[in-house]
Amino acid sequence: MADSFDIVFKGATLVNHTGEGEADLGIRGGRITAIGDISEGLADETIDATGLHILPGVIDTQVHFREPGMEHKEDLETGSRAAVLGGVTAVFEMPNTKPPTTSREALASKVAAATGRMHCDFAFFVGATHDNVDELDELELLPGAAGVKVFAGSSTGNLLVDDEETLARVLANIRRRASFHSEDEARLNDRMSLQREGDPSSHTEWRDPIAALVSTERLLRLATEAGKRIHILHVSTAAEMGLLALHKDVASVEVTPQHLTLATPDAYDRLGTRAQMNPPLRDRAHQEQLWWGLSQGVVDVLGSDHAPHTFDEKSGSYPATPSGMPGVQTLVPVMLDHVNAGRLSLARFVDLTSAGPQRLFGIAGKGRIAVGYDADLTIVDLKAERVVEDAWLGSKCGWSPFTGQTFKGWPVGTVVRGRLAMWDGELGTADGAPVRFGEALPKA
Ligand code: DOR
Repeated sequence: MADSFDIVFKGATLVNHTGEGEADLGIRGGRITAIGDISEGLADETIDATGLHILPGVIDTQVHFREPGMEHKEDLETGSRAAVLGGVTAVFEMPNTKPPTTSREALASKVAAATGRMHCDFAFFVGATHDNVDELDELELLPGAAGVKVFAGSSTGNLLVDDEETLARVLANIRRRASFHSEDEARLNDRMSLQREGDPSSHTEWRDPIAALVSTERLLRLATEAGKRIHILHVSTAAEMGLLALHKDVASVEVTPQHLTLATPDAYDRLGTRAQMNPPLRDRAHQEQLWWGLSQGVVDVLGSDHAPHTFDEKSGSYPATPSGMPGVQTLVPVMLDHVNAGRLSLARFVDLTSAGPQRLFGIAGKGRIAVGYDADLTIVDLKAERVVEDAWLGSKCGWSPFTGQTFKGWPVGTVVRGRLAMWDGELGTADGAPVRFGEALPKA
């Protein structure tokens, strides 16, 4: 155990491998170096965290930060600002930028643009295309790569791999767990006429539960045939959740706070096109099954699918409006409010936001409060009640589907490798670095 510390947090309740209990936490050189009773006077900085809970840093495994190419919506700095203001210590960013992250050069340029500029740590998904299938096994192992992302149904941008032959080739060629946007493109195309001009609620009718189910059934079959692991992003339907519960050997499951919290028809009545996302929000019956999956352990991780579009873009007339809503900054308060309401335990929240991402993606040195791990911490006040105000938001898009709503349970501090990236709503200096993965450790 180190006998001096850069920072010691005193008196908080730690949520870690021993369960939940009061203990001091010592940090040195960006790592956790002691848990327990730490004597006074050994630290450069001592922070009294009495009454607060310290969780392993929240890792948001699905965000869209729009850089390069759509920086009027968001960029890597502002997206990560939103992340740390909301208690998130690391993000996995999606490849549907302009140009998309589909080559070695595009990935390297994102890593370079993010290093030391993002407020949190990061990794980037590599998008699968018909042209890069044969290189994916190399691309997925490059520094800063979170793995391969496949749009099996089209959403924002033009990344799409929807034919079985290419999907099978992707799975055959990669070794890491690939992540999928799962909606059946052929069915979406067939049903396009169900979109009603000016009526965003028809989005949910067009992109129906069968489109999601058919696609997820196909991906499960292809993954089983290939003997590969897959990750189904933002699961939104009851039938998929039931099916995925039968395939935990090959498939992991993400749900979003939006699908757990907002439901049709109410969300469209209140938010209009701001409630438009892919896969779409659904009714309470589907939402109840997402909560069933969450309570039964079927769900592995929460991802915010932070997908910012400007208020102007969202103010057009459906279906010309883009799909997606921001969420990286509200993930923690929205879900802690559910914890306070008794819908999940704090331990399960930790399982879904740090241990879960670590287990699925093989993250090295993060995802756990333990000696030797990166000092990535999400420090929360479970009793704090606050209203989401636009002025609090770090995202360039400047709005949230939760604006005006009160949530109980709020992030107070965000610590990234021992650095205070956010404390009491104030940002620290940005010093984000690539997340490392056990399957692709960089050589020293
Ligand atoms: O609603 C969505 N928006 N779903 C996605 O899968 C993509 C995202 C975006 O990039 O805007």
